[in-house]
Parts: sequence; C-alpha cells; structure tokens
Amino acid sequence: MRHSGRDRRKGEEQTMNQLERTLAIIKPDSFAGGHTGEILAMIEAAGFRILGMRMTRLSKAQAQGFYDVHRGKPFFAGLVEFMTEGPVVVLALERENAIKAWRDLMGATNPAGAAEGTIRKKFGTAIDRNAVHGSDAPETAAYELGFFFSGADLA
Ligand code: CMP
Repeated sequence: MRHSGRDRRKGEEQTMNQLERTLAIIKPDSFAGGHTGEILAMIEAAGFRILGMRMTRLSKAQAQGFYDVHRGKPFFAGLVEFMTEGPVVVLALERENAIKAWRDLMGATNPAGAAEGTIRKKFGTAIDRNAVHGSDAPETAAYELGFFFSGADLA
C-alpha cells in the first residue's frame, strides 16, 4: 500500500521526535534540603512522564557500581561518599528527547555555571553537591535505567 504525503510526513515527525527514556536522581543534598517536591513539580511542568520512582539509600557498592565510568578519577571517592550520605529518589522519565531535555532542565554540572531557572542553579551548591543526576547518552541511559528498574517496572 502506498502512503499518502500526509502519512509519510507523520512518519518522519515521529522519527525525529522519538519518545526517549532517561534516569534521574534527586541526590542526597536536595532530598535532605526538602526540595524533592519542587523538583518533581519542575519535572512534570517540563512535560516528562514519570514511569518509575523510588526512594532508596545507596550502599557504597551500589554507588560505586552506578558511577563505574568515573572509577579512578580524583573525585570518585568523594562522589561515592556524597551519594551514600542520605536517601535519594531515583526516577525513570519519558519524553520526546528526554536525555537532552532533562540535562537542559538540570543545568551545567557545576552549579556556578548553570543557567538561571535550572535545577542546579536553584538547588546545587558545588560541583560535587549538585542536586540532581541525569544520564548523558542513550547507552548510559539504558545502563542507568536497568541499574534501578526492571523491564517489568517500566513496561
Ligand atoms: P553527575 O551528573 O551525577 O555525574 C558525576 C558526578 O561527579 C557529577 O554529577 C558531579 O557531581 C561529580 N563531580 C565531582 N567532582 C567533579 C569534577 N571535578 N568534575 C566532574 N564531576 C564531578
């Protein structure tokens, strides 16, 4: 069957604006500071669908495993210490272009350089206490979503 021009255009649009998933963490600093509710509101206002959400406290081994790509870097031990200091909220988010959209909403890794209106500008206090985490690429998102959620959770 031949597709009409309209159908084809619709198809192209769907490929360009693929629904994507990303892993977000509300880190111990923002959780302890009582900013979880406001961060969740910002996430929803930005059009993300919350597919999964769980409050947890990371063990040292879990934090090391999650941040395995940073093993060996000078800030690794401090990062693990920080991520295990208190509860976190882990989220599986879905939206068109979710990975970039969530990174844009978070702002720059270093809150000092984060744009006005971003979560890290609002709640981050230092590069190693920067309020939230987000996956940086599709491969990382797949690893990080699988780290905290099972396929059945996100079906
Ligand atoms: P996140 O997006 O969770 O990914 C790795 C984290 O390492 C990063 O946020 C920072 O909070 C933390 N970090 C600590 N020191 C540094 C640094 N010098 N450069 C980059 N990331 C750092």
